[in-house]
Amino acid sequence: MQSLTKILVLHGPNLNLLGKREPEIYGRLTLSEINQQLKNRALEFGVEIKFLQSNFEGELVQAIQNAPENFDFILLNAAALTHYSIALRDAIAAIEIPVIEIHLSNIFSREDFRHKSVIAPVCLGSISGFGIDSYISALEIAVRKLRRLNCEK
Ligand code: DQA
Repeated sequence: MQSLTKILVLHGPNLNLLGKREPEIYGRLTLSEINQQLKNRALEFGVEIKFLQSNFEGELVQAIQNAPENFDFILLNAAALTHYSIALRDAIAAIEIPVIEIHLSNIFSREDFRHKSVIAPVCLGSISGFGIDSYISALEIAVRKLRRLNCEK
């Protein structure tokens, strides 16, 4: 029997403050509202989804290292770590499962220091600027990719 598809959503530093953190940039949805919407969509797709938010680089590195044991795909909003964490980049490069980079805001229309993503070159692709739809679209792409892979087996 084919095993259930499992997707891990990782949220980086300060994303626990969504809803009250700079709502003009990040919107008014809280992190648990975003997770709930992703859960509903995942349920429609029949895939399992798990979430982790951390303000600590090492915890995210560890989660990425462990992910291949339990998950088929990672959706990652690395938040500020996107712009400077070589440790996160190396962890992504070290694993076999694909990672999609996500941002609620359009990082290219903001401050210069946000234009650079050190993780982008080791991710499958990046989605930036669509609020919660950045996450939902990434989930849809992950499911489509995994279904295609399963068909080829
Ligand atoms: C963010 C963009 C980052 O530049 C910022 O540091 C964040 C959130 C986004 O989702 O738009 O914390 O990743």
